[in-house]
Amino acid sequence: MEADKQSRTTAGAVLHGAFVYDLLVWLSMFGREREFRRRILQLARLKPGDSVLDAGCGTGTLAIAAKKSLGPGGRVCGVDASREMIARAESKARKAGVEIGFKNSPVELLPFPDGQFDVVFSTMMLHHLAPKGRRSCAAEIRRVLRPGGRVLAVDFAPPASRRKSILERFHRRHGHLKNDELQALFEEAGLTILDKGPMGIKDMYFILAGAE
Ligand SMILES: C[S@@+](CC[C@H](N)C(=O)[O-])C[C@H]1O[C@@H](n2cnc3c(N)ncnc32)[C@H](O)[C@@H]1O
Repeated sequence: MEADKQSRTTAGAVLHGAFVYDLLVWLSMFGREREFRRRILQLARLKPGDSVLDAGCGTGTLAIAAKKSLGPGGRVCGVDASREMIARAESKARKAGVEIGFKNSPVELLPFPDGQFDVVFSTMMLHHLAPKGRRSCAAEIRRVLRPGGRVLAVDFAPPASRRKSILERFHRRHGHLKNDELQALFEEAGLTILDKGPMGIKDMYFILAGAE
């Protein structure tokens, strides 16, 4: 999985090995990925009819789970700067029989008008960005959220142990983001922290923040 820092569209670490990515996530979660995705949907407090964006959607696993949970009344979009990730996400959504609007785009410049979404997800993505990119992304998330909307971010805290997981070994430049840094990022973007805590898997934690 090559992290291409010279991507034309973003300064973030864009991933290109889409099939390998899915395999690694599956391996590193010891078969608990479905449970992990389900927990994310619960934490975001999805409601029927919600409009959802997955920012840095990768191969679309969470976006597909969100669409299945929302049913025909809900709208789900996903953006990723990697063409390969978007191609695999589209293929997985076709196979799952769900309609999702995937776009190849950087999260620092979301291709949507203001106030479009009830929920924005950012899972295992913000650590790919440099601080400036993270700030742009948080401001963009704030811009596309409706009043009363919320963002659910999940990311990797610095590891408690020195032992590296499979994912971390493969993903050599794996970054981390302290939970207070993530909280400050959303607060600086004008969002209010609604909930936060550990995910109970790896060294991951979540933050749920709301727009007024
Ligand atoms: C570790 S993967 C997480 C994917 C997905 N959110 C998940 O939960 O499986 C990080 C994703 O962020 C994407 N990415 C990195 N920098 C980005 C950027 N600036 N804009 C959009 N996507 C980006 C990568 O291409 C990759 O698909």
